[in-house]
Amino acid sequence: MKILILAATLIGAAQGWAAGPAPAPAAAPDAVPKAYKANCALCHGVNAAGNKAMAKAFKLEPAAMDLVNGDAAGKTEAELTQIIAGGKGKMPAYKKKLDQDQLQGLARFLVSLRPPKAASKAAPAK
Ligand code: HEC
Repeated sequence: MKILILAATLIGAAQGWAAGPAPAPAAAPDAVPKAYKANCALCHGVNAAGNKAMAKAFKLEPAAMDLVNGDAAGKTEAELTQIIAGGKGKMPAYKKKLDQDQLQGLARFLVSLRPPKAASKAAPAK
């Protein structure tokens, strides 16, 4: 539940920025982690290793929603950007909600969260 409240708070915060004349969120150094928390953490977990309850709700293997181990860890930044932009299965498309910089920033952020061993070789899906 805590995460839901956190996500809701952050979504509220993100909408506040979008409405105001304040500097673009992309300019802030923590804009990408914030965008991740606001848009993605609910389904993929704060650490991007997947939200098991969500996987169950979607009737998917938890590994399908793990973005830092397994399959996703074998994808390039460009491939991740494409998935985030266009969606995949039950994953919503974000190209209308986020701009190209944000999409790419999120892909780069996901790559940066990978555990060292998963960077070169995908970990077995569990
Ligand atoms: C409503 C829940 C939901 C939200 C919100 C969501 N995703 Fe997903 N995402 C999914 C599901 C479900 C899948 C698995 C799709 C499949 O394999 O059929 C997925 C898959 C992915 C994949 C592909 C993983 C792979 O192994 O190929 C990436 C990358 C991804 N999401 C990134 C993101 C990012 C970044 C965000 C935020 C901008 C986000 N997702 C928001 C549900 C969500």
